[in-house]
Amino acid sequence: MDGGLEPIPSMGALGASQVLATSGPAPGRRSRSMTRAFRHDPVMLRECLDSLAVRPGATVVDGTVGGGGHAEAILEASAPDGRLLGLDVDDEALAHARERLRRFGERVMLLRASFRELDRQRALAGFGPLDGVLLDLGVSSHELDSPERGFGFAADPDAPLDMRMDRRAPETAATLLARASERELARWLLEAGELPGAARLARAIVRARERAPLRTSGDLVRVVRESGVGRGRRHHPATLVFQALRIVVNDELGALDEGLGQALDATQPGARIVVLSYHSLEDRRVKQRFRDEERGCTCPPRVPVCVCGRRPRLRVLTRKPVRPSEPGARPSPKSIRPGAIASSTRNCSATCSAE
Ligand SMILES: C[S@@+](CC[C@H](N)C(=O)[O-])C[C@H]1O[C@@H](n2cnc3c(N)ncnc32)[C@H](O)[C@@H]1O
Repeated sequence: MDGGLEPIPSMGALGASQVLATSGPAPGRRSRSMTRAFRHDPVMLRECLDSLAVRPGATVVDGTVGGGGHAEAILEASAPDGRLLGLDVDDEALAHARERLRRFGERVMLLRASFRELDRQRALAGFGPLDGVLLDLGVSSHELDSPERGFGFAADPDAPLDMRMDRRAPETAATLLARASERELARWLLEAGELPGAARLARAIVRARERAPLRTSGDLVRVVRESGVGRGRRHHPATLVFQALRIVVNDELGALDEGLGQALDATQPGARIVVLSYHSLEDRRVKQRFRDEERGCTCPPRVPVCVCGRRPRLRVLTRKPVRPSEPGARPSPKSIRPGAIASSTRNCSATCSAE
Protein backbone atom coordinates (compact mmCIF):
# COMPACT_ATOMS: atom_id res chain seq x y z
CA MET A 1 0.00 0.00 0.00
CA ASP A 2 1.24 3.42 -0.79
CA GLY A 3 -0.01 5.48 2.05
CA GLY A 4 -2.91 7.18 0.31
CA LEU A 5 -6.52 6.46 1.10
CA GLU A 6 -7.60 3.48 -0.97
CA PRO A 7 -11.10 2.10 -1.22
CA ILE A 8 -11.01 -1.70 -1.00
CA PRO A 9 -11.98 -2.75 -4.54
CA SER A 10 -14.16 -5.70 -3.55
CA MET A 11 -15.97 -3.99 -0.71
CA GLY A 12 -19.48 -4.95 -1.79
CA ALA A 13 -21.85 -4.06 0.99
CA LEU A 14 -19.04 -2.42 2.88
CA GLY A 15 -18.37 -0.02 0.06
CA ALA A 16 -18.06 3.04 2.24
CA SER A 17 -15.07 1.66 4.11
CA GLN A 18 -11.57 2.80 3.31
CA VAL A 19 -8.08 1.57 3.91
CA LEU A 20 -5.42 3.80 5.31
CA ALA A 21 -1.85 2.71 5.05
CA THR A 22 0.45 3.98 7.73
CA SER A 23 3.26 5.04 5.49
CA GLY A 24 3.18 8.25 3.49
CA PRO A 25 0.83 11.19 3.56
CA ALA A 26 -2.89 11.12 2.91
CA PRO A 27 -3.39 14.10 0.65
CA GLY A 28 -6.47 16.11 1.26
CA ARG A 29 -7.59 14.13 4.31
CA ARG A 30 -6.32 16.47 6.98
CA SER A 31 -9.41 17.65 8.80
CA ARG A 32 -9.65 20.99 10.52
CA SER A 33 -8.95 19.50 13.92
CA MET A 34 -6.04 17.37 12.70
CA THR A 35 -3.95 20.34 13.59
CA ARG A 36 -4.98 19.83 17.23
CA ALA A 37 -3.12 17.22 19.22
CA PHE A 38 -5.22 14.09 19.83
CA ARG A 39 -6.11 14.21 23.48
CA HIS A 40 -6.84 10.72 24.70
CA ASP A 41 -4.66 8.74 27.08
CA PRO A 42 -5.15 5.02 26.61
CA VAL A 43 -7.18 3.83 29.58
CA MET A 44 -5.83 1.01 31.76
CA LEU A 45 -3.09 0.29 29.27
CA ARG A 46 -1.11 -2.12 31.44
CA GLU A 47 -4.23 -4.11 32.35
CA CYS A 48 -5.37 -4.29 28.73
CA LEU A 49 -1.98 -5.56 27.60
CA ASP A 50 -1.84 -8.12 30.39
CA SER A 51 -5.34 -9.33 29.55
CA LEU A 52 -4.56 -9.53 25.84
CA ALA A 53 -1.33 -11.42 26.55
CA VAL A 54 0.16 -10.18 23.28
CA ARG A 55 3.14 -12.22 22.11
CA PRO A 56 5.69 -11.54 19.36
CA GLY A 57 4.12 -12.28 16.00
CA ALA A 58 0.52 -11.96 17.27
CA THR A 59 -2.24 -10.76 14.96
CA VAL A 60 -4.66 -8.44 16.73
CA VAL A 61 -7.67 -6.32 15.83
CA ASP A 62 -8.11 -3.08 17.74
CA GLY A 63 -11.79 -2.50 16.96
CA THR A 64 -11.75 1.05 18.39
CA VAL A 65 -8.35 2.32 17.43
CA GLY A 66 -9.08 5.98 18.29
CA GLY A 67 -5.80 7.90 18.48
CA GLY A 68 -3.85 4.66 18.46
CA GLY A 69 -2.60 4.59 22.06
CA HIS A 70 -3.53 1.00 22.80
CA ALA A 71 -2.63 0.00 19.25
CA GLU A 72 0.86 1.42 19.62
CA ALA A 73 1.49 -0.60 22.76
CA ILE A 74 0.09 -3.75 21.12
CA LEU A 75 2.37 -3.30 18.13
CA GLU A 76 5.36 -2.84 20.42
CA ALA A 77 4.47 -5.98 22.34
CA SER A 78 3.98 -8.02 19.16
CA ALA A 79 7.30 -6.94 17.57
CA PRO A 80 9.08 -7.81 15.40
CA ASP A 81 6.43 -9.16 13.04
CA GLY A 82 3.05 -9.01 14.76
CA ARG A 83 0.27 -7.35 12.79
CA LEU A 84 -2.57 -5.10 13.83
CA LEU A 85 -5.77 -4.15 12.07
CA GLY A 86 -7.22 -0.96 13.55
CA LEU A 87 -10.87 -0.09 12.99
CA ASP A 88 -12.68 3.13 13.76
CA VAL A 89 -15.74 4.86 12.36
CA ASP A 90 -14.29 8.31 13.05
CA ASP A 91 -12.22 9.67 10.18
CA GLU A 92 -10.50 12.18 12.43
CA ALA A 93 -9.40 9.52 14.90
CA LEU A 94 -8.03 7.40 12.07
CA ALA A 95 -6.02 10.29 10.69
CA HIS A 96 -4.39 10.73 14.11
CA ALA A 97 -3.80 7.00 14.52
CA ARG A 98 -2.21 6.92 11.12
CA GLU A 99 0.33 9.54 12.14
CA ARG A 100 1.04 7.85 15.44
CA LEU A 101 1.46 4.37 14.00
CA ARG A 102 3.37 5.34 10.87
CA ARG A 103 6.64 3.94 12.20
CA PHE A 104 5.22 0.39 12.22
CA GLY A 105 4.93 0.42 8.41
CA GLU A 106 3.17 -2.59 6.92
CA ARG A 107 2.61 -4.24 10.26
CA VAL A 108 -0.45 -2.07 10.69
CA MET A 109 -3.54 -1.50 8.61
CA LEU A 110 -6.26 0.98 9.44
CA LEU A 111 -9.80 0.84 8.14
CA ARG A 112 -12.74 3.12 8.49
CA ALA A 113 -15.30 0.59 9.58
CA SER A 114 -17.41 -0.41 12.54
CA PHE A 115 -16.34 -3.26 14.78
CA ARG A 116 -19.81 -4.66 14.15
CA GLU A 117 -18.21 -5.88 10.90
CA LEU A 118 -15.03 -7.00 12.57
CA ASP A 119 -14.78 -10.48 11.15
CA ARG A 120 -15.68 -9.43 7.63
CA GLN A 121 -13.16 -6.60 7.74
CA ARG A 122 -10.51 -8.97 9.05
CA ALA A 123 -11.05 -11.31 6.13
CA LEU A 124 -11.15 -8.48 3.59
CA ALA A 125 -7.89 -7.14 4.99
CA GLY A 126 -6.29 -10.54 4.49
CA PHE A 127 -5.81 -11.33 8.19
CA GLY A 128 -6.17 -14.95 9.27
CA PRO A 129 -7.79 -16.06 12.55
CA LEU A 130 -6.81 -13.62 15.29
CA ASP A 131 -4.83 -13.95 18.51
CA GLY A 132 -6.54 -10.99 20.11
CA VAL A 133 -9.33 -8.42 19.89
CA LEU A 134 -9.58 -5.18 21.85
CA LEU A 135 -12.76 -3.10 22.11
CA ASP A 136 -12.32 0.15 24.07
CA LEU A 137 -15.93 1.28 23.96
CA GLY A 138 -17.60 4.67 23.66
CA VAL A 139 -16.12 8.03 22.67
CA SER A 140 -12.58 9.28 23.04
CA SER A 141 -11.68 12.34 25.15
CA HIS A 142 -10.82 13.96 21.85
CA GLU A 143 -14.33 13.48 20.51
CA LEU A 144 -15.84 14.59 23.82
CA ASP A 145 -13.70 17.71 23.95
CA SER A 146 -14.37 18.78 20.36
CA PRO A 147 -17.39 21.10 20.65
CA GLU A 148 -18.18 20.88 16.95
CA ARG A 149 -18.86 17.15 17.36
CA GLY A 150 -21.63 17.91 19.83
CA PHE A 151 -20.93 15.12 22.37
CA GLY A 152 -20.60 17.42 25.36
CA PHE A 153 -22.71 20.19 26.78
CA ALA A 154 -20.41 21.97 29.20
CA ALA A 155 -17.94 23.69 26.90
CA ASP A 156 -20.13 25.47 24.40
CA PRO A 157 -23.91 26.01 24.54
CA ASP A 158 -23.86 26.75 20.80
CA ALA A 159 -22.34 23.34 19.92
CA PRO A 160 -24.53 21.54 17.37
CA LEU A 161 -26.52 18.53 18.57
CA ASP A 162 -24.59 16.14 16.34
CA MET A 163 -23.02 13.27 18.35
CA ARG A 164 -22.16 11.09 15.35
CA MET A 165 -18.92 9.18 15.68
CA ASP A 166 -19.28 8.28 12.02
CA ARG A 167 -19.90 11.54 10.24
CA ARG A 168 -21.16 9.72 7.15
CA ALA A 169 -24.20 8.55 9.12
CA PRO A 170 -27.41 10.33 8.16
CA GLU A 171 -28.91 10.75 11.65
CA THR A 172 -27.67 13.36 14.12
CA ALA A 173 -28.96 13.93 17.63
CA ALA A 174 -30.85 16.98 16.33
CA THR A 175 -32.65 15.05 13.56
CA LEU A 176 -33.41 12.27 15.96
CA LEU A 177 -34.92 14.67 18.51
CA ALA A 178 -36.92 16.29 15.72
CA ARG A 179 -38.51 13.11 14.33
CA ALA A 180 -38.93 10.72 17.25
CA SER A 181 -42.30 10.19 18.85
CA GLU A 182 -42.74 10.98 22.52
CA ARG A 183 -42.96 7.27 23.22
CA GLU A 184 -39.70 6.53 21.39
CA LEU A 185 -37.92 9.34 23.19
CA ALA A 186 -39.09 8.04 26.56
CA ARG A 187 -37.99 4.51 25.72
CA TRP A 188 -34.55 5.63 24.58
CA LEU A 189 -34.01 7.79 27.65
CA LEU A 190 -35.00 4.90 29.84
CA GLU A 191 -33.17 2.12 28.04
CA ALA A 192 -30.01 3.95 26.97
CA GLY A 193 -29.79 6.41 29.88
CA GLU A 194 -31.60 4.59 32.70
CA LEU A 195 -32.98 8.05 33.32
CA PRO A 196 -35.43 8.57 36.19
CA GLY A 197 -38.11 10.87 34.76
CA ALA A 198 -37.63 9.66 31.18
CA ALA A 199 -41.33 10.05 30.30
CA ARG A 200 -41.46 13.55 31.78
CA LEU A 201 -38.41 14.66 29.81
CA ALA A 202 -39.75 13.11 26.59
CA ARG A 203 -42.94 15.16 27.03
CA ALA A 204 -40.90 18.31 27.68
CA ILE A 205 -38.82 17.71 24.53
CA VAL A 206 -41.91 17.30 22.38
CA ARG A 207 -43.43 20.50 23.79
CA ALA A 208 -40.19 22.42 23.33
CA ARG A 209 -39.70 21.32 19.71
CA GLU A 210 -43.24 22.46 18.88
CA ARG A 211 -42.05 25.96 19.74
CA ALA A 212 -38.62 25.74 18.03
CA PRO A 213 -36.30 22.95 16.80
CA LEU A 214 -33.64 21.80 19.24
CA ARG A 215 -30.39 22.49 17.42
CA THR A 216 -27.70 23.14 20.00
CA SER A 217 -26.52 21.58 23.22
CA GLY A 218 -27.73 24.73 24.99
CA ASP A 219 -31.26 24.15 23.60
CA LEU A 220 -31.37 20.65 25.05
CA VAL A 221 -29.79 21.58 28.38
CA ARG A 222 -32.47 24.27 28.78
CA VAL A 223 -35.27 21.73 28.25
CA VAL A 224 -33.68 19.32 30.72
CA ARG A 225 -33.38 22.09 33.32
CA GLU A 226 -36.93 23.33 32.83
CA SER A 227 -38.31 19.79 33.07
CA GLY A 228 -36.72 19.38 36.51
CA VAL A 229 -35.45 15.92 35.56
CA GLY A 230 -32.24 14.99 37.34
CA ARG A 231 -32.43 17.95 39.71
CA GLY A 232 -30.48 17.38 42.94
CA ARG A 233 -28.38 14.53 41.54
CA ARG A 234 -24.62 14.34 41.91
CA HIS A 235 -23.94 14.83 38.21
CA HIS A 236 -25.25 17.57 35.97
CA PRO A 237 -28.89 16.75 35.11
CA ALA A 238 -28.01 16.60 31.38
CA THR A 239 -25.25 14.01 31.78
CA LEU A 240 -27.41 10.92 31.40
CA VAL A 241 -29.53 12.59 28.72
CA PHE A 242 -26.53 13.31 26.51
CA GLN A 243 -25.14 9.85 27.12
CA ALA A 244 -28.45 8.23 26.17
CA LEU A 245 -28.73 10.26 22.98
CA ARG A 246 -25.18 9.44 22.00
CA ILE A 247 -25.78 5.75 22.51
CA VAL A 248 -28.91 5.88 20.35
CA VAL A 249 -27.43 8.07 17.59
CA ASN A 250 -24.54 5.62 17.22
CA ASP A 251 -26.52 2.46 17.97
CA GLU A 252 -23.77 1.62 20.43
CA LEU A 253 -25.52 -1.28 22.11
CA GLY A 254 -26.48 -2.90 18.80
CA ALA A 255 -22.92 -2.51 17.59
CA LEU A 256 -21.62 -4.05 20.82
CA ASP A 257 -23.86 -7.11 20.48
CA GLU A 258 -22.80 -7.68 16.90
CA GLY A 259 -19.16 -6.82 17.59
CA LEU A 260 -18.88 -9.42 20.34
CA GLY A 261 -20.24 -12.10 18.02
CA GLN A 262 -17.88 -11.01 15.28
CA ALA A 263 -14.93 -11.03 17.67
CA LEU A 264 -15.72 -14.62 18.54
CA ASP A 265 -15.99 -15.60 14.89
CA ALA A 266 -12.70 -13.87 14.08
CA THR A 267 -10.52 -15.43 16.77
CA GLN A 268 -8.75 -18.75 17.06
CA PRO A 269 -8.70 -21.00 20.14
CA GLY A 270 -6.51 -19.51 22.85
CA ALA A 271 -7.04 -15.96 21.57
CA ARG A 272 -8.03 -13.18 23.98
CA ILE A 273 -10.99 -10.82 23.68
CA VAL A 274 -10.72 -7.73 25.89
CA VAL A 275 -13.53 -5.19 26.26
CA LEU A 276 -13.12 -1.91 28.13
CA SER A 277 -16.53 -0.45 29.02
CA TYR A 278 -17.52 2.82 30.70
CA HIS A 279 -21.04 2.41 31.95
CA SER A 280 -23.18 -0.30 33.44
CA LEU A 281 -25.28 -0.89 30.31
CA GLU A 282 -22.21 -1.94 28.35
CA ASP A 283 -20.68 -3.73 31.28
CA ARG A 284 -23.76 -5.89 31.94
CA ARG A 285 -24.13 -6.75 28.27
CA VAL A 286 -20.52 -7.85 27.91
CA LYS A 287 -20.55 -9.94 31.07
CA GLN A 288 -23.85 -11.57 30.15
CA ARG A 289 -22.66 -12.42 26.65
CA PHE A 290 -19.41 -13.83 27.97
CA ARG A 291 -21.31 -15.94 30.52
CA ASP A 292 -23.70 -17.24 27.85
CA GLU A 293 -20.85 -18.12 25.51
CA GLU A 294 -18.99 -19.81 28.35
CA ARG A 295 -22.01 -21.92 29.23
CA GLY A 296 -22.84 -22.84 25.64
CA CYS A 297 -25.91 -25.01 26.07
CA THR A 298 -29.16 -23.05 26.36
CA CYS A 299 -31.45 -26.01 27.06
CA PRO A 300 -33.74 -25.59 30.09
CA PRO A 301 -32.55 -27.53 33.18
CA ARG A 302 -35.50 -29.97 32.89
CA VAL A 303 -34.16 -31.26 29.54
CA PRO A 304 -31.95 -34.25 30.49
CA VAL A 305 -29.81 -34.26 27.35
CA CYS A 306 -28.69 -31.19 25.42
CA VAL A 307 -30.76 -30.69 22.30
CA CYS A 308 -29.62 -27.16 21.35
CA GLY A 309 -26.14 -28.33 20.41
CA ARG A 310 -24.50 -25.08 21.51
CA ARG A 311 -21.00 -25.58 22.82
CA PRO A 312 -18.96 -23.28 25.09
CA ARG A 313 -16.98 -20.88 22.94
CA LEU A 314 -14.88 -19.09 25.53
CA ARG A 315 -13.74 -19.08 29.12
CA VAL A 316 -14.10 -15.96 31.27
CA LEU A 317 -10.71 -15.02 32.69
CA THR A 318 -11.57 -12.30 35.17
CA ARG A 319 -14.73 -12.71 37.17
CA LYS A 320 -14.03 -9.77 39.44
CA PRO A 321 -13.37 -6.22 38.27
CA VAL A 322 -9.70 -5.56 37.56
CA ARG A 323 -8.50 -2.25 38.95
CA PRO A 324 -5.79 0.04 37.58
CA SER A 325 -2.40 -1.07 38.79
CA GLU A 326 -0.90 2.43 38.99
CA PRO A 327 -2.58 5.55 40.38
CA GLY A 328 -1.66 7.33 37.13
CA ALA A 329 -3.63 4.77 35.17
CA ARG A 330 -6.88 6.25 36.42
CA PRO A 331 -8.23 8.44 33.63
CA SER A 332 -9.29 12.00 34.24
CA PRO A 333 -12.87 12.07 35.54
CA LYS A 334 -13.50 15.09 33.33
CA SER A 335 -12.88 13.27 30.11
CA ILE A 336 -13.93 9.71 30.76
CA ARG A 337 -15.92 8.12 33.51
CA PRO A 338 -14.27 4.71 33.61
CA GLY A 339 -16.14 1.48 33.85
CA ALA A 340 -14.80 -1.97 33.35
CA ILE A 341 -12.61 -4.21 31.22
CA ALA A 342 -14.01 -7.58 30.37
CA SER A 343 -11.65 -10.04 28.78
CA SER A 344 -12.13 -13.55 27.62
CA THR A 345 -10.09 -16.15 25.92
CA ARG A 346 -11.49 -17.99 22.97
CA ASN A 347 -12.54 -21.36 24.23
CA CYS A 348 -11.38 -19.83 27.07
CA SER A 349 -12.46 -14.29 28.40
CA ALA A 350 -11.79 -11.18 31.69
CA THR A 351 -13.33 -8.12 33.41
CA CYS A 352 -11.58 -5.20 35.08
CA SER A 353 -12.93 -1.99 36.52
CA ALA A 354 -11.27 1.39 36.79
CA GLU A 355 -13.55 2.50 39.63
C1 LIG B 1 -12.42 5.19 23.92
S1 LIG B 1 -11.96 5.55 22.26
C2 LIG B 1 -10.62 4.48 21.94
C3 LIG B 1 -9.29 5.09 22.25
C4 LIG B 1 -8.12 4.22 21.86
N1 LIG B 1 -8.12 2.95 22.56
C5 LIG B 1 -6.80 4.94 22.05
O1 LIG B 1 -5.91 4.38 22.70
O2 LIG B 1 -6.68 6.09 21.55
C6 LIG B 1 -13.23 4.78 21.37
C7 LIG B 1 -13.10 4.92 19.86
O3 LIG B 1 -13.95 3.95 19.29
C8 LIG B 1 -14.60 4.51 18.17
N2 LIG B 1 -15.82 3.73 18.01
C9 LIG B 1 -16.94 3.75 18.75
N3 LIG B 1 -17.83 2.86 18.30
C10 LIG B 1 -17.24 2.23 17.26
C11 LIG B 1 -17.63 1.18 16.39
N4 LIG B 1 -18.83 0.59 16.48
N5 LIG B 1 -16.75 0.76 15.48
C12 LIG B 1 -15.53 1.31 15.37
N6 LIG B 1 -15.11 2.33 16.15
C13 LIG B 1 -15.95 2.77 17.09
C14 LIG B 1 -14.78 5.97 18.52
O4 LIG B 1 -14.91 6.74 17.35
C15 LIG B 1 -13.49 6.27 19.29
O5 LIG B 1 -12.49 6.76 18.44
